[in-house]
Amino acid sequence: MIANIADFLASRRTTNLFDPDQRLDDAQLRDLVRIASTAPSAFNLQNWRFIAVRSEEAKQRLRAVAWDQAKITDAAATFIMVGELADHRTLPARLQGAVDAGFMPAEMVPGWEGAARSLYADQPQRQRDEAVRSATFAATTLIHAARTLGLGAAPMIGFDADAVAREFGLGTQDVPVMLLAIGVALPENWPQKPRRPVAELLQFA
Ligand SMILES: Cc1cc2nc3c(=O)[nH]c(=O)nc-3n(C[C@H](O)[C@H](O)[C@H](O)COP(=O)(O)O)c2cc1C
Repeated sequence: MIANIADFLASRRTTNLFDPDQRLDDAQLRDLVRIASTAPSAFNLQNWRFIAVRSEEAKQRLRAVAWDQAKITDAAATFIMVGELADHRTLPARLQGAVDAGFMPAEMVPGWEGAARSLYADQPQRQRDEAVRSATFAATTLIHAARTLGLGAAPMIGFDADAVAREFGLGTQDVPVMLLAIGVALPENWPQKPRRPVAELLQFA
């Protein structure tokens, strides 16, 4: 099993060329988001949202503020991965499912909320860091979810964040963390690029 997952990860590649004739229906997009939302987040904040840009009009609007990248119009959809500034006040609602499921004692929730308050309240940099972390975990999970459906994915940071926020109605709590194009990959895509050797990356302590 582990070997299979290692192979799965080693054969993933960033898709640059998408088949422009292949589309995804709303049920498939919902399924991808459902799987992506299994990603972990600090305190289970789940401070992420997904805007599926899939109409021709919206794709053109996004491409115009994203370095004119053709992937955005060729892919079936491009998700704007939105991270929300971490806010401890959201926690009781976000933890309610664990309480209802019977494994998290209700009396534990205020403790978690207090810890989150001490970490994030009046700490804009930390709030933003958590937005970026959470949306990045969600994006990574979405990339692998897409592959299980036979789809390729392309993360992108080449966009004007202010323009994306304006065009797609993001609020002051929202950070457009990255774009993630999803669709059917053409065979001409490059394989995964070689990585730096482990000896350069790993330090023991
Ligand atoms: C956060 C992030 C932002 C990226 N932004 C872009 C981008 O705007 N345009 C693009 O063509 N590729 C973009 N890439 C793709 C990278 O170039 C690609 O993942 C990297 O070269 C490794 O490729 P591989 O995974 O196929 O080996 C981005 C990747 C990441 C993780």
